[in-house]
Formats: sequence, C-alpha cells, structure tokens
Amino acid sequence: MENNNNKKVDQLKQFTTKDEGQPLTTNHGLKLTNDEHSLTIGERGPTIMEDFHFREKMTHFDHERIPERVVHARGSGAHGVFESYGDASDITMAHFLGEKGRQTPVFVRFSTVAGSRGSAETVRDVRGFATKFYTEEGNYDLVGNNIPIFFIQDAIKFPDLIHAVKPEPHNEIPQAQSAHDTFWDFVVNNEETAHMTMWHMSDRAIPKSYRQMEGFGVNTFRFVNANGEAHFVKFHWKPVQGMESLVWDEAQKIAGKDPDFHRRDLFDQIEAGNYPEYELAVQLIPQEEEFKFDFDILDPTKIWPEELIPLRKLGKMTLNRNVDNFFAETEQIAFHVGHVVPGIDFSNDPLLQGRLFSYTDTQLIRLGGPNFHELPINRPVCPFHNNQRDGYGRMTINKGRVAYGRNGLQNDTPHVVDQKDGGYAHYQEKIEGRKVRARSVSFEDFYSQARQFWLSQTPVEQEHIIDAFCFELGKVETIEIRKAAVDMFARVDRAMAEQIAQRIGVSAPDASIEQVADLPPSDAVSILKNQVPI
Ligand code: HEM
Repeated sequence: MENNNNKKVDQLKQFTTKDEGQPLTTNHGLKLTNDEHSLTIGERGPTIMEDFHFREKMTHFDHERIPERVVHARGSGAHGVFESYGDASDITMAHFLGEKGRQTPVFVRFSTVAGSRGSAETVRDVRGFATKFYTEEGNYDLVGNNIPIFFIQDAIKFPDLIHAVKPEPHNEIPQAQSAHDTFWDFVVNNEETAHMTMWHMSDRAIPKSYRQMEGFGVNTFRFVNANGEAHFVKFHWKPVQGMESLVWDEAQKIAGKDPDFHRRDLFDQIEAGNYPEYELAVQLIPQEEEFKFDFDILDPTKIWPEELIPLRKLGKMTLNRNVDNFFAETEQIAFHVGHVVPGIDFSNDPLLQGRLFSYTDTQLIRLGGPNFHELPINRPVCPFHNNQRDGYGRMTINKGRVAYGRNGLQNDTPHVVDQKDGGYAHYQEKIEGRKVRARSVSFEDFYSQARQFWLSQTPVEQEHIIDAFCFELGKVETIEIRKAAVDMFARVDRAMAEQIAQRIGVSAPDASIEQVADLPPSDAVSILKNQVPI
C-alpha cells in the first residue's frame, strides 16, 4: 500500500530551525556578546546610529505583523492524514482517491468568518473548514464551511455581504456577531439570504468544538473520470466524533471566560491523542441530469436533498499533529478553490466562479507578493517547475538562461504533458449564450428550503432559532429593519415570525404576506436531522 503520509513532515523538517543551545547571532551569522544594552556614548548617553544589532532587531520586530485575512481571520490549524476508502476511479481520476488505503498528508484550518484575528471563538457565526491535501499530483484544496449553503448566489455581492457583516465602519462595533443593523439591513434587502440566515440562527452556528462539526464544499464542483465522464459533485465532511453544539447562554459565557475555547480544545485533544476524524463524502449528479431537479444545482443557496442524491463515502481524515509554529503554518497557509488535481473540476456556480479569482488575489497582498507558494506550508510534496521568475521573497535559484517556453536556445525547458501523463485538462463543457448581467429565474425560490430547514428542526431547536432571532434582532436599532425581518421570515413560517415580532416589540407580520408552501415529502431533507443539541 502506498503511503506518502510522511512526505510533508519530512519537507517541513528541512525548514525547521533548531535554535536551542546555539550562540545568539545576527541574521547574517555574526555572534553577539551583548543583547541587553544598546550601543551608547557613555553609560548615560544617546544610542548611536552605528548600532547595527539594535537596528536589525528592532526593524524585524517592527515588520513582524502581516495583514489578517479579510475574512476568516480567526483560525486554528492542524496536520493530519487522509486515507482513501477505495477505488473511486469510476467517478474521478484524482489519484488520492484511488486505491484503498492510499494515504495523503493534509493540513486543516478551522475559522470563524467575521471576527478579527483576536476575537472570541464561540460567537454565532459560520465556521470555515479548509483542507489542503498534499497529493502526488499537486495540492488540492477543499475550502469549505460548516453550513452547506451560502448567503448570496453571485460572487459580485461578496464585498457587499462582508461589508454588512463586519463591524460597522464608524465605530468598529460589534465584533464577530450578527447583532447589528447593517447585517440585518443586508438580509432584508437580499432575500436570497433567507435559507442561510435560518441556519445561522440555528445551533449550527455555535458548534461545541471543531471536532464535532460538519464541513461542506458548498459550491457545486465537477468530478471527471478517465473516460471523460462527468458528475456534478457536492463535498461533505462528517465528524466521526459526532456533532454537538453549545447553547447560546454558555456560548456567551465561554466567549468571555475563554475566547480561545475552540483552538484550545483542538490543540489539547490532539496532544492527548484523541484525534479528530472526519469522513469525506460526496453527492453526485451525472452531467446529463443537470436539469432534473426543481431547484438549480448551480445555486449555492440550495442544498441537494440526501433522499434524492445520497452520500457516497470516499475516505477518512485524521488530524494527528499540532503545528510547531502558528505563524509559519496556520497563518501562512494559503488555500484556494482553484487548487485542483486531475479529476476535479469546476461548475458554473456564479459564486464559485468569483471565488476562483479572489483567493490568490488577496494572498498576493496578505503574504507579500507572488512567491507565497514557496513558503514551507504551501509547497506541494511533488516537484514543481515553470518559467515564473523573481518577485519579492523569491527563494528558488532557477538556473539557466532561458525562462520562456518555445525557444531555440535550450531544448530542456519545462514542457507541458498530455493528460495521460498527468496533465490537467479542463472539462470541455459546451456553453452557448448571450453575455448578460442577470440571474437565472430558477434561482428565485428563496424560501422553500428555508422552510424545509425550519420543519426539520426539533421543538427545542426551533425554540433556539426563535431565541436567536430575538437576541440578534433585539440589538438592531432601526425599527424598520426589525419589522422588515419579521415580514421576510413570515414567508418561512408565520407562527415563528409572530412570536419574534411580539418579543422584539414590532407589529405582527403583514396579513398580505404568504408563507411559502411546504415541499413535497420526497424532498425531505435528512441532512438537516443530524444535529444533537446539548
Ligand atoms: C477565506 C473570498 C465564499 C470558505 C477567504 C478569503 C477570501 C475569501 C478573500 C481570505 C483568504 C486568505 O486571506 O487566504 C471569498 C469570496 C467568496 C467566498 C469572494 C464568495 C464569492 C466562500 C464560501 C466558502 C468559503 C462559499 C465555503 C464554502 C472560506 C474559508 C476561508 C475563506 C474556509 C478561510 C481559509 C483559511 O482558513 O485560510 N474567502 N469567499 N468562502 N473562505 Fe471564502
């Protein structure tokens, strides 16, 4: 059985320094005799410019912060291994999903979305669940969340969404929570948020630990096998240790008493050998069945009901090693939905298409230029060669005179290879249409699945949702926004909205508002029923 699990460990070891017991030196290797006193004129005189040691030490310190991630700034990561359950070659060429028992090193970073790098972790928020697979064919990143859908349908609205979700710009309040006017103003003015807002008000948004939450790729991707046959695919992570949430009262208390609650749990459990495990599963829709459903499978505000499209398990991930250095590993890792391997491709999901631009773009500034792929945590375990050169922080010494493709001077410059030799070829989807800025009509059912989610919840969970709406909307100062929210969520469930209205001091939903019809029983959504509240 093939096992390349140690490849990433071995690679990182080459970059790990052993400072213990060594003489203290400057960055240029000069041994030092004194590290506590600046070089001054006399014992009581001014520090002199000549003090290269002081200047180097202080300059490095002055520059040691980098920008935090524009979203998902607060996070925590761990190393692990993914093991394939068996041959998935009928659906994908991806090598790491091949032979049973094949192992691939991984790094996972969990995060909150809205809060800054120092914010509390048990806030009401979506959680990020991003995985980098260091495969033999290059890095594959599955950049997911713990909620299977998203607030918006088109990436062009992401800056608007995040501007509304983040602390308000005039006073930087509130940090990492959704109890404010701009968030709810965005919700009531963008009805596509209805489904995700229901999940966001549920216990899913206050997980007990990173070990006990699900993960979802959210967007629709594509699997392609060696015969060129394609399936649309949704990715799921199922926690082997089960799913648990906090209740709001304890979440708030913990946020005050131990803002590091989730990272501490992850770190301590891994140190204790209680390794978090997650099974990777997929839902698959054959390419030919794209239009078989009563929702658009490219719409990221919709789930795919598991009764209709069952899960197929592909393997298990075990997180078994903490980082040695938070900055070098957790902070410097750069995930990107566009990091794929042969057999994994994209769909035209308009949210995914925009994400394909955003990640590298933001990392160029966050990680200081175009060479962040050379940082130890980001390096693939397979070789990489191309004609890219230079730029800030370049570490590789590329030999040779020719750094371009077709040429007559050097016949051994890096060359492309055929698909049969591992080259990546995009799925040749046939596309016809006019250039437009318009949403497909099929995206416009905003409420059916939101109601389905509500109906899937137990009475206790429904009570938690109502409490969450009341807490969050109760913090909204603009009464018109509270009222608009009550009216909007009366489309999901009138009785729910009436209770909320009463408790937050606005009038009952307008009589003209119609609650959306229930979906037929065949569309019941088992994915929603796994939650175990405590
Ligand atoms: C992080 C953009 C939607 C999951 C980020 C970052 C950006 C971004 C700019 C910061 C990356 C960095 O600094 O390294 C976007 C855009 C979206 C979008 C433009 C929609 C148009 C989503 C969705 C998901 C998601 C739908 C879940 C499926 C994540 C995660 C991270 C992240 C998990 C943190 C990665 C890490 O731990 O480093 N996103 N995002 N994003 N995004 Fe998105």
